[in-house]
Amino acid sequence: MISTKIKVFAPASIANVSCGFDIFGFAVPNLGDFVEVWFNDTGKLIIESISGADGLPTEPELNVTTVAAQALLDDIGEKRGVSFNIQKTVKPGSGLGSSSSAAVAGAFAVNELLGKPFSRRELLPFAGVGEKLASNQLHFDNVAPSLLGGFSVVRSNEEMDVLSISYPKDLWVVAAHPQVEIKTKQAKRMLGRTMPISNAVIQFGNVAGLVLALVSNDYDLLGRSMVDMLAEPKRSKLIPLYDEAKEATLAKGAIGTNIAGSGPTIFSFCKGEESAKQVMNAYKKVYAASELEVNYYISKINPEGAKRVN
Ligand code: HSE
Repeated sequence: MISTKIKVFAPASIANVSCGFDIFGFAVPNLGDFVEVWFNDTGKLIIESISGADGLPTEPELNVTTVAAQALLDDIGEKRGVSFNIQKTVKPGSGLGSSSSAAVAGAFAVNELLGKPFSRRELLPFAGVGEKLASNQLHFDNVAPSLLGGFSVVRSNEEMDVLSISYPKDLWVVAAHPQVEIKTKQAKRMLGRTMPISNAVIQFGNVAGLVLALVSNDYDLLGRSMVDMLAEPKRSKLIPLYDEAKEATLAKGAIGTNIAGSGPTIFSFCKGEESAKQVMNAYKKVYAASELEVNYYISKINPEGAKRVN
C-alpha cells in the first residue's frame, strides 16, 4: 500500500504558571514533538523510529503518542494500520509538557491522515488518554495549550471544560532548564493530599488575580498574583539553585518567576524582549557558577498550537 506521509508538530508548554496547579498552561514555540504518519497494510500501529529522547517505549500500547492515536482510531472505527516516526525536541521530565506534546501530536497526526474527521478541540479527549498514561491522572493543563495554542484555563479537568484566554501581546517567556530529570508522577506524590484553608484562600485570590491580569494586560497584577502556596514550596527543593535563580531574575525585572510544570525548568514572565534578554542573562549568571548543564529558552507565547508541517 502506498500512502501519503503527513507530518505534524505539537508544541511544548508550561503548566501551572505558579498558582494554577493543574489548571493553567501556555504553549511555547520551537520545542515540541514532530510526528510523521502513514498508513501501513498490517492493520496495526507501528513505531518505526523515535529520535531526540532515550528510553521511550517503542511498543505502541505503551507509547503516549500511539496510545493517543489509537484512542482516536478506535473511536472512529478505523481498522487500517498506521506507522509513526517520532522526533522529539523537548525532553521527557523537563517540566515542558513533553508527554502532552507527544500525545497531542499523535492524535493530531492521525486526524490529519484521516482527513480531519474531528475538529481541533474534539481532539482533547484523545490526547488526554495519552497524557493519562504518562502521569496517571487526567489533567489538561499541558495538553490544552499544546493543542490549542495560547493560554489555557482548565475550569474542570473532570468535565474537560477548557477555556482559552487572552494575554498581553508584549509578554515574553524566559526559561532555564537545568539538566536534571523530575518525573511528574513523583512530583505529584510529594504534594500530599490536603492544603490548609488559609493557604487555599491565598491561592484562590492569586488565581483570580492572574486571570484578571492576563485579560486586562496588567503586568503589575500579574507579578503580584504569581504566588504559589501549593507546589512551589515543596517542589522548588528538587531544583538546583531555584531560590537563587528566582531572586536574581526578579531583581533584573522579571514580572514573576516560578516552576514550569513539575520542574526542573524554571520560567519567568517579562514585559518585552529587552527585559527578557536581561532576565536570561540573570539566569546564566546564576548557573555559570555551578557545574550544571543548563538549556535556556526565550520566546513569546506560541499562539497557534499543534499544526501540520507537511
Ligand atoms: N500540573 C502538573 C503538575 C503539570 O504540576 O503535576 C505537570 O504535568
